Amino acid sequence: MKSTLAQLTARFDQALVAAFGADLAGTDPMLVATSNPKFGDYQANLAMSLAKPLKGNPRAIAAQIVEQLDISDLCEPPEIAGPGFINLRFKTAYLEDQLRAMQADPRLGVEPVKTPQKVIVDFSSPNIAKEMHVGHLRSTIIGDSIARVQEFMGNDVLRLNHVGDWGTQFGMLITHLKEACPEALEADSKVDIGDLVAFYKQAKKRFDDDDNFRTRSREAVVGLQAGDAIATKAWQTLCNQSRHEFQKLYDRLDIQIQERGESFYNPLLADVVKDLASLGLLVEDQGAKVVFADGFTNKDGDPLPLIIQKTDGGYNYATTDLAAIRYRTQQDGAERVLYVVDAGQGSHFAQVFQVAAKAGWIPDGVELTHVPFGVVQGEDGKKFKTRSGDTVKLKDLLDEAVSRARTDLESRIQAEERQETEEFIQDVAEAVGLGAVKYADLSQNRTSNYIFSFDKMLALAGNTAPYMLYAYVRVQGISRKGDIDFDHLPAEARIHLEDDSEFALARHLLQLDEVLEEVAQDLYPSRLCQYLFELSQKFNQFYDRCSVLQAAEPQRTSRLLLCDLTAKTLNLGLSLLGIRVLERM
Ligand code: ARG
Repeated sequence: MKSTLAQLTARFDQALVAAFGADLAGTDPMLVATSNPKFGDYQANLAMSLAKPLKGNPRAIAAQIVEQLDISDLCEPPEIAGPGFINLRFKTAYLEDQLRAMQADPRLGVEPVKTPQKVIVDFSSPNIAKEMHVGHLRSTIIGDSIARVQEFMGNDVLRLNHVGDWGTQFGMLITHLKEACPEALEADSKVDIGDLVAFYKQAKKRFDDDDNFRTRSREAVVGLQAGDAIATKAWQTLCNQSRHEFQKLYDRLDIQIQERGESFYNPLLADVVKDLASLGLLVEDQGAKVVFADGFTNKDGDPLPLIIQKTDGGYNYATTDLAAIRYRTQQDGAERVLYVVDAGQGSHFAQVFQVAAKAGWIPDGVELTHVPFGVVQGEDGKKFKTRSGDTVKLKDLLDEAVSRARTDLESRIQAEERQETEEFIQDVAEAVGLGAVKYADLSQNRTSNYIFSFDKMLALAGNTAPYMLYAYVRVQGISRKGDIDFDHLPAEARIHLEDDSEFALARHLLQLDEVLEEVAQDLYPSRLCQYLFELSQKFNQFYDRCSVLQAAEPQRTSRLLLCDLTAKTLNLGLSLLGIRVLERM
């Protein structure tokens, strides 16, 4: 199915060429959906931007375009307004045809991209033995949604977990493990080290207090780098334990991700240094090997070095990212790499990308993008912490969301005097609780800081997951009540638009493809949330105004089709946010 927007764009292209010559082929008609139905469905804003290059008056240019615009099968006669806006209103028959095509298409009218790209999404990426904190949760939720949208658009997506599984902190961890828990190092040991974060704190305390421990830790790092068997075994034990914990969370949140941690790139780091040196980019700075990227200075205004190899010979976070760029573009064939990482790492990525570009390591046509997000704050606007000031454990956070969803559900069940099984209650609470946490995060513009509030995210009204899920459930309720099988409505059944609320809903439905293309390009899942929120609102307005099951035929079937198309669109949209719908709640 060709999207309404694509069809309009093609018609504008023909008109521009006819009016002003072939030079203008491919000009963006700057079509935007109007917010007020008074101005029609779309507004084309190109006449204003053509005024300068064409040296003409925008209203006159608009008139010349409209003169050539052959659009009568799609729209009512266009109107020119204000300085030169071209207002377009779809014909009802055209809208109905488009809805029918959308209905018949399992992809709901969203065409896959013509040339699929190899896209890597680098997300989640917690650090071994350290806390997986709310920042990593944001990366996990946003990254997963971005990956889902890329996949749906037909791209070949590789989801990578750039786990922090290497670095000097392993010296103290290994040493502490060897001494405090030697049985963990025996062959096929099943020892559970327990809370790794507490373990990390103990190791850190010994490291800070005890000179001798510090020396042994440094030796352990050297051992690990040299491939010493015991050090390696200790490192693996620690990584496995962390991995196991992370996986529980991924399973619960339904996240697919492939681990390729920092350690994976170790064998490639020496070459990064060697090649930067032979390109003449590497500089000695106080014993360290560094690269200076343009435009980065410290707070005294001095050039800020990107450290590639430390004085002690160790490599850095940036070195690994440079090796990863080479590997991902050469071995994986990535054409687009998306780094879903907190905004605080903006200058790290800007420096790394610039150095990679200078070194000629970014092949033509390859795009590396940092997809930043803001920090999570508590309702007091401060950093998100528990009442006692500790960092919030992600498991506790999800448990709390689920348990609150459960309390809400139980009181509704009681008030409505329903009989529900424990299994049902648990399933709904889990879907609503986790859906609410994800949706709350995704619905914010990701670049701003985000205030975490259980009350807001679980509210049944507003731009929340429960509101969206509820709209979906409403449709399922209609089909149950009327004993309707949406998949077996008569083949000749069609949507006929009559009421204003039906038009508003229909127009909104037909914007799905446009919205998904935008999200795939700009990487703002909040745009999709906004779309779904408005869809639910428009559906509720329609459902409040128009009877469905009580309506006479053919209106009844038409309205059922509209309900079904709304539910399918909600289901698809929510699935791209990683949120599971419910039949009842
Ligand atoms: N482990 C890092 C952190 O917790 C995030 C890694 C992001 N990805 C990357 N390629 N640098 O901050």
